[in-house]
Amino acid sequence: MDKEDILQLLKKNALFNEWYSYVKDIIESDEFQIRKLYLHHDDSVYHHCISVSFKSYMIARNVGANKKNCAIAGLLHDFYPKAWQYSQELYEKYPDRLRNEKNIFHMHGFTHGKEAAKNYQKYYPEVVNKQITNAIKWHMFPLTLVPPLYKEGWIVTLADKIVSFTTINIKSVPKLVGLKKTIKIKKHI
Ligand SMILES: [Fe+2]
Ligand SMILES: [Fe+2]
Repeated sequence: MDKEDILQLLKKNALFNEWYSYVKDIIESDEFQIRKLYLHHDDSVYHHCISVSFKSYMIARNVGANKKNCAIAGLLHDFYPKAWQYSQELYEKYPDRLRNEKNIFHMHGFTHGKEAAKNYQKYYPEVVNKQITNAIKWHMFPLTLVPPLYKEGWIVTLADKIVSFTTINIKSVPKLVGLKKTIKIKKHI
């Protein structure tokens, strides 16, 4: 099954419609669709960020945090402008979207939260607020040393770790979103 079918899988969850009402316009935008070509380890940024968004939304729902802000911050937490991993398809279609700095992998963890927090304001000014901005900016805590300021930021940080440490392929999505009870942990970094 293609990784782009993640939305089809999420539709099986009874909570899909509410979550999707918060993120639909962003997901359908051209700028977000390009993230299908950005790699995130052996996954795409598109797939990873939708997974983090849905997970963040679900946690927010359980703890009484702002569901919409968590869904949007989760979706845009890795919305940095240029890809840090090489992708042949991205290179062929949008070569200027690839970064070329040396040792970018080492720098990336420290800098991409700030880049994403700035970049999302450029493309989606209609959803900007301080909770979302702060959550995106500091989602790499504890690597960033500065912790998130709001509980919504802590939720996105947690959801990102859960998704990143869970087997990253389409088969893991039902487990990830609670359609199956067990989550098989497999390290990818
Ligand atoms: Fe990140
Ligand atoms: Fe992430």
